[in-house]
Amino acid sequence: MWSLSATFLLLLCLRGSKANGAEMEATRRPNIIIIMADDMGFDDVSFRGGREFITPNIDALAYHGRLLDRLYAPAMCTPSRGALLSGRYPIHTGTQHFVISNEEPWALDSNATLMPEIFQRAGYSTNLVGKWHLGFSRPEYTPTHRGFDYHYGYWGAYIDYYQRRSKMPVANYSLGYDFRRNMELECRDRGTYVTDLLTTEAERLIKEQAGKDKPLFLMLSHLATHTANEDDPLQAPEEEIRKFSYIKDPNRRKYAAMVSKLDQSVGRIISTLASTDQLENSIVIFYSDNGAPSVGMFANTGSNWPLRGQKNTPWEGGVRVAGAVWSSKLEARGSIFTQPIYVGDWLPTLAHAADIELEPKILAGLDGIDLWPQLSGAADAPHVPREILHSLDDVWKVGSLLMGHWKYVNGTTSAGQYDSVLTYREFDDIDPRESRYAVTIRNSPASRALTRLDLRRLTQQRIAGLRRSAAVHCGDFQRSCNPLLEDCLFDISADPCEQNNLAYSERHSDVLAALRKRFRELRASASRPGNRASMPSADPTWHTCTWEAFEQQKPRSVPLVCDYVGDPCE
Ligand SMILES: *[C@@H]1O[C@H](CO)[C@@H](O)[C@H](O)[C@H]1NC(C)=O
Ligand SMILES: *[C@@H]1O[C@H](CO)[C@@H](O)[C@H](O)[C@H]1NC(C)=O
Ligand SMILES: *[C@@H]1O[C@H](CO)[C@@H](O)[C@H](O)[C@H]1NC(C)=O
Repeated sequence: MWSLSATFLLLLCLRGSKANGAEMEATRRPNIIIIMADDMGFDDVSFRGGREFITPNIDALAYHGRLLDRLYAPAMCTPSRGALLSGRYPIHTGTQHFVISNEEPWALDSNATLMPEIFQRAGYSTNLVGKWHLGFSRPEYTPTHRGFDYHYGYWGAYIDYYQRRSKMPVANYSLGYDFRRNMELECRDRGTYVTDLLTTEAERLIKEQAGKDKPLFLMLSHLATHTANEDDPLQAPEEEIRKFSYIKDPNRRKYAAMVSKLDQSVGRIISTLASTDQLENSIVIFYSDNGAPSVGMFANTGSNWPLRGQKNTPWEGGVRVAGAVWSSKLEARGSIFTQPIYVGDWLPTLAHAADIELEPKILAGLDGIDLWPQLSGAADAPHVPREILHSLDDVWKVGSLLMGHWKYVNGTTSAGQYDSVLTYREFDDIDPRESRYAVTIRNSPASRALTRLDLRRLTQQRIAGLRRSAAVHCGDFQRSCNPLLEDCLFDISADPCEQNNLAYSERHSDVLAALRKRFRELRASASRPGNRASMPSADPTWHTCTWEAFEQQKPRSVPLVCDYVGDPCE
């Protein structure tokens, strides 16, 4: 292993040989800001045409930048975050089966070089604000040991939006506190709504960075719109919930308020980049880690309409996510990006954007591809035909693979009970702002900041046109498929809602054979799932009611009762 300082010195030497010197070079690299939502639904942004609640800042990012029409991610938190940071399929980092529950002693494969490590070596200040969820049972698994200079947030799967404690849905593990600044427990500002709190911390980092000659790599990894603990799953400030009093379902009303806070976060980040004069040299990405769990475990009322399925399913509702990107370097900003893009593509794509040459060893391990030429290029750049392995989990016997416009599904999760379209689009409860939608978008903080860097004016007409083009059209239902009994094959570009199984039509036998073959090849390349059984010593009762790096910590002899007393911050 290279020591970081040795690598940095080497970089300085290499860079120093160029005319401008290392620091000048470094300052010209773009800031990278990734704002991630957790479990937000495909249709819970208004740029697809939904009118139940408006997301003015996220929509503005999409309309001024590029709306990522076909952004794909693994269907759950751990594999999705692992694919983003490693540029690899979950089968190549041991994260292909389910997620890391807080009491389990495993992590994202430590062989993979992560995006923050790569950007750190290239002279970036690397920061994670919010959720990690890639393992913490040993200190070396945690963010500041995996390339982040700085982490403010939580290590585990989720927390309460105010108290920052979590209880896993696993028998007998106690409630535990989970909030840190780097490796230290952070108790300050407890009780502040966490979406606002994380945003304020991200703003602080952006402002601090303005005076420095280092570029910024910032991942703002929100809790929203994941559920909190089972006893109070949906949480938002009362005054935010009141804004959505026209929504009849009280849970959906709370969810709308959670989304609204998230949307405000996007506006605040873009405004802060603008007010510190850093927006022009930034790449800002927003997306959800996976589709919403509309029903079942961690259900948050999120909607993936009109797509089939939800979080933790092989269907489009699990893997096709809401997303948008803006950068002044996007020649075709203001147009929809229709090229299929995978979260594992961000690593090579952003490295290209930042002029970072990836070492052959890193390149060889990547499943993601560099789409920066397509993303930054002309609106009509031809699509790169590509493969995306959505899932391959031999524990639950489920797999799904995209090749070109063909999608193959073999097996499903939860015995198929979440395989249909699980929500509908609300037509009765309409956001009062919908009647002046374009004005609402243009008056949003994000739009006000981005307008100054527009190539073409964002007129009402253009907003309406983009929103119309982003609508998903399903076509007619033709032939169903039960992936527990048969192979499914869909032409996903013509049939985005997976309503017409082509597997048994003679005409498609070659395509099906090719997909099956590739699927088997990928299976042969898979590493073993990293999952390990829960460890009783992980229980927060042994660690002063805190989720700790438990594998090496000696349990205290007398466990505390944590659910009501024993709070580490009191
Ligand atoms: C990670 O490294 C270990 C030891 O070098 C090796 O045995 C293992 O196969 C590697 N895992 C992957 C996924 O490459
Ligand atoms: C959980 O605790 C209950 C009651 O103390 C006990 O009966 C049960 O066996 C425990 N379950 C596990 C998985 O430890
Ligand atoms: C599809 O799933 C079945 C059942 O798990 C399995 O036997 C079969 O090999 C799978 N097909 C491919 C191509 O992997």
